[in-house]
Amino acid sequence: TIRWDSAAAEKGGYPHFMLKEIMEQPRAMADTIFPRLEGGITTLSLNGISEDLIKGIDKIFLVACGSAYHVSVSAKYIFENMTGISTEVDLASEFRYRSPIINERTLIIVISQSGETADTIAALREAKRRGAKVLSVVNVVGSTIAKESDAVFYTWAGPEIAVATTKAYSAQLCAIYVLSLYFAAVRNKINLNEVENLCRALRELPNITESILKDKKRVQVAASKLYSRKSIFFIGRGLSYAAALEGSLKLKEISYIHSEAYAAGELKHGTISLIEEGTPVVCVIQNDSLKDKMRSNMREVKARGAFVLAIKEKGVELSGEADMEIELPGTHQFLWPSLAILPLQLLAYYVALMRGCDIDKPRNLAKSVTVE
Ligand code: M6R
Repeated sequence: TIRWDSAAAEKGGYPHFMLKEIMEQPRAMADTIFPRLEGGITTLSLNGISEDLIKGIDKIFLVACGSAYHVSVSAKYIFENMTGISTEVDLASEFRYRSPIINERTLIIVISQSGETADTIAALREAKRRGAKVLSVVNVVGSTIAKESDAVFYTWAGPEIAVATTKAYSAQLCAIYVLSLYFAAVRNKINLNEVENLCRALRELPNITESILKDKKRVQVAASKLYSRKSIFFIGRGLSYAAALEGSLKLKEISYIHSEAYAAGELKHGTISLIEEGTPVVCVIQNDSLKDKMRSNMREVKARGAFVLAIKEKGVELSGEADMEIELPGTHQFLWPSLAILPLQLLAYYVALMRGCDIDKPRNLAKSVTVE
C-alpha cells in the first residue's frame, strides 16, 4: 500500500522542492523510526530474513550509489561497532563487476531511494546469483529492488522530487540505526541499558532535527562567504567523514562548485598540497574520542591559510582552529551523521541559490539513474 498523498508532490509554499524536503526531514525520520520501536526492538521482524539467519551472518556487504553509498559508509561504522559483524561498503557499479567472496552466511544490504538504480539492481542480482541473501532499504514501494529482495525495510520518506536527495538520505540513516539495533539485539551484542539509551535518542531525533532546521541564519552567513569560491574541501573522521562525503556531494551537485571530501587523517598523504590562502575547508567534528585528532587536522589546514568552517557537536571546544563555527546539539554517538548533515544540506542549498542555479533540476543529472 502506498501511503503518499498528492500534496507531497507539490511545493507547499516553498521556493524549491529541495528546501521543502529538507524541512520534511523530522517527519521522514519519525515515520521511519517510530513504528519500528513500538512494542520494543526485538518484536521487529524482517519477513524473508529470519532471526536464525541474522545470528549466523559472518559478513555484510553494503551496496549502493551516490548518497545511498554515503549512508552505507556511516552504516559500516555503526554495524561493526554494534553487531560485531565484519562489514564492507561497495559502490554498486564496482561490486557488480568484481568477485566478492560471498556464501550463505553473507548478507547484502542494498540501499536505494528509487529502488530503480540500474547499477544497484545489477549488484543485487549478482549477489543473489552468488547465493547471498539480500535485504534492501528502499523508499519506493513496489520498485524493482523491493520486489527482487529477500526482505525490504521501507524508508517512509514520502515522494522525493528534488534531484538532490535530502529526506530520503536521512530516512535511510534512520533505517540503518533501527536495523543495527535490531541485529545487535538478536545477536545478544547489546545490553538492555544500551538498547534503552539508543531508543530514547532515536525518539528524540526528529525534534532535535526540527530545532536545528528552524535556525538557518548562521548557515546563510556561511553560504555568503563561500558561494563565490572555486573549490571547497570537506573533512572529517569516522562518522563525520561519512557526513563530509555527503555534504561535498550535495554542494557540487547543485552549486557546480568543485568539491572533495577527505578522511581528515588522509590529507597529509597528498591533498593538503591543494590548501592555500583562503581555500575553504568545512570541518565536521563530533564530540568523540577522535575530536583532538580532528582539531589537529584543522590546525594543519589553518596553518596553510585555509578558511575553516567548523560544523561541531556541542561539547567540542575549539581555540582558534576555525574561522566560523556552527554548533549542533549533542546526541547519541551513532546518530551524529543525522545532525551533521543538516547544516551541510542547507549550505549547499543557499550556496546554489546565491549562484542562481537550477536547484531542483541540476544540469546533467536525473532523479533516478536507470541506465548504466
Ligand atoms: O535512487 P537511489 O538512492 O538508488 O539513487 C542513488 C544515487 O543516484 C543518488 O543518491 C544520487 O547520488 C543523488 N542525486 C544525490 O543527491
